[in-house]
Parts: sequence; C-alpha cells; structure tokens
Amino acid sequence: MTHALCPRLLLSPTASAGTPAQQGRQSRPQQGVEIIGTGQFLPSGTISNHDLSKLMDTNHDWIVQRTGIANRHRADLASGETTKVLAANALRAAMQNAGITAKDLDVLICATMTPEMTCPATANLVANDVGMAHGASFDLVAACSGFVYGLNVAHDLIKCGTYRTIGLVGADTLTRLMDYTNAGRGTAILFGDGAGAAILRATPDATKGIISQAMHSDGTGWKDIYVPNTPHDFPSGIACDATKFGHVQMNGASVFKFAVGTFSELIQQTLDKAGLQASDIDMFVCHQSNSRILQAARERFGLPEEKLYVNIHRVGNTVGASVPLCLDDLRQAGRIKPGMKVLFLAFGGGLTWASSLWQM
Ligand code: UT7
Repeated sequence: MTHALCPRLLLSPTASAGTPAQQGRQSRPQQGVEIIGTGQFLPSGTISNHDLSKLMDTNHDWIVQRTGIANRHRADLASGETTKVLAANALRAAMQNAGITAKDLDVLICATMTPEMTCPATANLVANDVGMAHGASFDLVAACSGFVYGLNVAHDLIKCGTYRTIGLVGADTLTRLMDYTNAGRGTAILFGDGAGAAILRATPDATKGIISQAMHSDGTGWKDIYVPNTPHDFPSGIACDATKFGHVQMNGASVFKFAVGTFSELIQQTLDKAGLQASDIDMFVCHQSNSRILQAARERFGLPEEKLYVNIHRVGNTVGASVPLCLDDLRQAGRIKPGMKVLFLAFGGGLTWASSLWQM
C-alpha cells in the first residue's frame, strides 16, 4: 500500500516537516485496527459420510482416517441458497455482533471462488442486500486463501488512514462444483458450503492490528486445483473431458505435500518477521483442509491441542469460509479475546498461501 493511495496522508499537516523518510513516518496516522465483530452462516442442509457412501464407493472410516471430516453443510441451490445469500447472512450476523449497521461500512470485500455470476461482483450484490448504500465493494479471488488475503488488504486500507470500517466476508458454495460419483470421490468428500464474516475498524490504540503478514502465489501450480469449463481449460497432457466441466479437478496428493511443507514454512516466516516464537502465539486459526495437515503443523511446532482450532469434522473444507468460521467459533466461545496474539493461515488453489499475525 503506497502513501499515494491515501488522501488523508497527502493532506497531513505534518507532511511538510523533515526529510522525505521522516515525513513518511510522521504522516502515517497513529491508529490501529481491530476486529470488532464476527458472524457466520451455515446452510441447514448437510451431507454426512454415510450420505456420500450411498452415492459413491467410499465409507465413513476411510474419510475420517484420511481427512478428519464427518459432516459438511450443503446450500440448497434449488431454493435460492446461493453464495450471496450465505455471505449476506454471515455479514448481518457480524454487523449485529459489532453493533454497527450497513451504513457504517466504508468497504465490503467478499472472498469467494464461487461467485454469484461473472458480473457484477458478489460483494456488490451482498452490499445491495444488506443496505450498504455507499462505499466500495469488490470480490477477492484467492480460493482457500481468500479470507486471509482479505484480512491483510482490509487491515492496510484502514491502517493507511483511507477507510475506517470494512466488512470482510469469506463465502463459498463448493458442493455445486463436486462430482458425486466414483470419478470424483477423491475430491467430493472434502468440501462443504458456508460463510463467515468479520468487521474491521480503526482504533486509536496503535498497538492493535497486524504484527506481520505474508501473501504468496505460485501460478505454476494452477493445475493442482482448477475448474474446467471449456476444452481450453485443461492442462497440456490432459485430454479434454466434457464430463469434468464445472467440477473441481484436484491433485490431492500433490496439494497435500505442498500444504504440509507450506504451512510450516509460512508459520516460521511469519514468526521470524515478528521476532516471535510459536509459544508466544495464543491461537492458530488455520484453513481447514485436512486434519492430517493441521496435525503435522501442530507437531512440527509442538503446539498444545487447544491452540490450533479444528472444526473440520463438522463443516469439512469450506474454502473462503473456512478461516472466518473458525474465527467466529473461537470468538463466540471466548477463546479469542482482546490482548491475544492470533495467527491466521491459509493455502489453496492458485496456488496461493497467506498469513496474518494479529495483536487483538
Ligand atoms: O483446500 C485446499 C485443497 N485441498 C486439499 O488440501 C487436499 C489435500 N489432499 C488431501 O486431503 C488428500 O490427498 C485426500 C484426502 C484428497 C486423499 O487422501 P490420500 O491419502 O492422498 O489418498 P489417495 O488419493 O492417495 O488415495 C489412496 C487410495 C486410492 O486407492 P489405491 O490406488 O491405493 O487402490 C484411492 O483410489 O484411496 C482411494 N480413494 C478412496 N477410497 C475410499 C480415493 N478417494 C477415496 C474415497 N473413499 N473417497
């Protein structure tokens, strides 16, 4: 984020004094950022492992052993339960929790890879549904990393003094992109639908907000998770197969290997930037992709079970909703409180990966 993007900084009365470097430091508004509310929405429909075993050659024990998942929620598309509906419900809950209304929002960001349509952005539709009459709204596409990318972007938009209150939603309806036959069984067992939201706001307490962050992508890994819709969408060497159109294609083993290594590197990199140890962190809020990936990170850093939250057994992998669902669970349970250090982590399609370490 450059200062050129921050009108308040350009108008700052301190900007005329000192060297350019000093001017930059002096003109930075001394304010922090806090998460003042969270909310979530899970559709009432569910798909259990038992339900899946009636559709494809799989069973409860295999799924639990390989992924830790027992249940997922499924939006009812036929009755209009789409991504924007889930997102708007989660955002309303977060605004209520924060004690604000849509009129207080300056920006709305929706992290999703299952948008309502190509144009307009899902965020524009959600803004309309919740009655956000002014301000900016846009989608952020970074698959499972979307919400953590969004935390970093929203935080810095506030920190630089341009905006005061931002709504950030992670919402996805991946079940509509699943192939619930034997051909898709390696992928369909993982994903569920949901939405989670957070309200970020400027605070005079400059100690609050992001301590360190990282955002990465590696486009060479795009073919590990993609959704083909035309014959041109298949990687070279993979024959076009029209039965795969509209279904997530995932190289599970390759993503698994990437995720285990990346999680550890990302945690270490974020801690190093902050000059902290893993033991200094009060809570790890991680993308829920597979309980074995989470377990590997926990063992690598010697974390006690209660410091790395897991809800994957209940909701599966909800992509952009995964991290904010965990965040809301933990806040509602009183396990994330002001004063704590909380590390958000995610990885996913793109390939993308990101972290956001907060002083709450
Ligand atoms: O959000 C980020 C995106 N995705 C991920 O993080 C996914 C990361 N990857 C994974 O979580 C795991 O790779 C999976 C859970 C997807 C798969 O687990 P795995 O231990 O890597 O299994 P596998 O793909 O190596 O398959 C092992 C065996 C195979 O049979 P053979 O060849 O050994 O006879 C599969 O055909 O398990 C079979 N299999 C199944 N069996 C029962 C694959 N899917 C299923 C299934 N039920 N649903």
